Amino acid sequence: MSHQTELLVADQSLLHPLHHPAEHADPLVFVEAHGVYLRDAAGRDYLDAFAGLWNVLVGYGRDELADAAAAQLRRLPYASAYAGYTNEPAALLAQKLAGFAYPELNTTFFTSGGAEANESAFKTARAVWKLRGKPGKFKILSRWHAYHGVTLAAMSATGMANYWKVFEPRVPGFLQAPAPYPYRFDDVREGETVGTAAARAVEEAILVEGADTVAAIIAEPVQGAGGVIVPPDDYFPTLRAICDRHEVLLIADEVITGFGRTGRWFGLQHWGVSPDIMSFAKGITSGYLPLGGMQISDAIRDALLSAAPENRWMHAYTYSGHPTCCALALKNLDILEREGLVAQARERGAYLRRGLDTLLDLEAVGEVRGLGLMAAVELVADRATKAPAGLGDAVRRRCQQQGVLLRVRGDVVMVAPPLTISEAEIDRIVETVRRAIQG
Ligand SMILES: Cc1ncc(COP(=O)(O)O)c(C=O)c1O
Repeated sequence: MSHQTELLVADQSLLHPLHHPAEHADPLVFVEAHGVYLRDAAGRDYLDAFAGLWNVLVGYGRDELADAAAAQLRRLPYASAYAGYTNEPAALLAQKLAGFAYPELNTTFFTSGGAEANESAFKTARAVWKLRGKPGKFKILSRWHAYHGVTLAAMSATGMANYWKVFEPRVPGFLQAPAPYPYRFDDVREGETVGTAAARAVEEAILVEGADTVAAIIAEPVQGAGGVIVPPDDYFPTLRAICDRHEVLLIADEVITGFGRTGRWFGLQHWGVSPDIMSFAKGITSGYLPLGGMQISDAIRDALLSAAPENRWMHAYTYSGHPTCCALALKNLDILEREGLVAQARERGAYLRRGLDTLLDLEAVGEVRGLGLMAAVELVADRATKAPAGLGDAVRRRCQQQGVLLRVRGDVVMVAPPLTISEAEIDRIVETVRRAIQG
């Protein structure tokens, strides 16, 4: 039996994320990676136009990251960070992150990934309102097309019904409002823009539920897995004002947008808006090790820290503040800063956008959109009706055959390469997508 065949036999014991045998009949077996390229067991290189799952910001093959992790593994691989204990990398990373994204967010809780970060944010929002004497405020609002992870509460906030179907019922108290999706938003009333109309739709949902029942709204600055949906500039400032008016906390899910992907360090910085809680994951370690977390505002921290012992924040993970993951994250932030990769994401993002815009000469392309190095091409059967083209998966497969990896949601073709990508590599992505659309 060849090694490749042995691997595929071994793989039959593995249940993969989103598993279905039809999708897993002929899996790529990745064995190594360098720069923006993944190599499979047959020695073929693939240009990773999706940076793993949006997360490999600094590209593959960074010895510095491997060395930082190895040194920490030798010194102190693991230690509990439960109250009463701490460790150097976790404390130093929390200190580094204090005020790093938003001035009011100075306190961090670490998790292993994005869904755990959002679970932590939901529970914290509920806890704060209880501590403030408003225990009736427990509902969590989100938006259609949102992706917040797939643990039970995060799944219940996720605004794509195919993620719930076989797992329902969802957690009570989680509900969705319309998304700021300019290409498909048609409920704009007199005097409104798409941005203010989409924010008004959230306010209506708050009022229907009763503001005294709503704890928080969670929102990705740019909706990622839902199809790289970029809100109009007036959306988040309007939403922030609505949250303040109704005493609803704003949770920014920056799991994708955090640490530079959009051409700024964090997504809501584009619009001068600060959240009350921010969740993050992915890019903080460029995916080299699992790490996520949430940051809370000073007001929330004060509420939690002044609680009586019997009302303590009874929330914990074994791997919260994992020293090895935190040591690697510190080194990853160092690389992002030293190499100016956030500014580079802005420049290369503009270059990618110019390239993708040239695809608008194809009839099947309805819209090109994006922010920084997250971009999408939405395919349609007819530009006037915007009816679905049913082409997305074929485009993804053709790109893979041509050695370029990307993801699709329905007819939305999504590109989010490492921030280190070159202009020549971007040209190749654009040309490959063009040929794949043309069939
Ligand atoms: C915006 C957003 N939030 C949360 C998550 C969930 O993160 P994880 O898969 O680490 O649980 C993701 C994952 O893609 C995401 O894109």
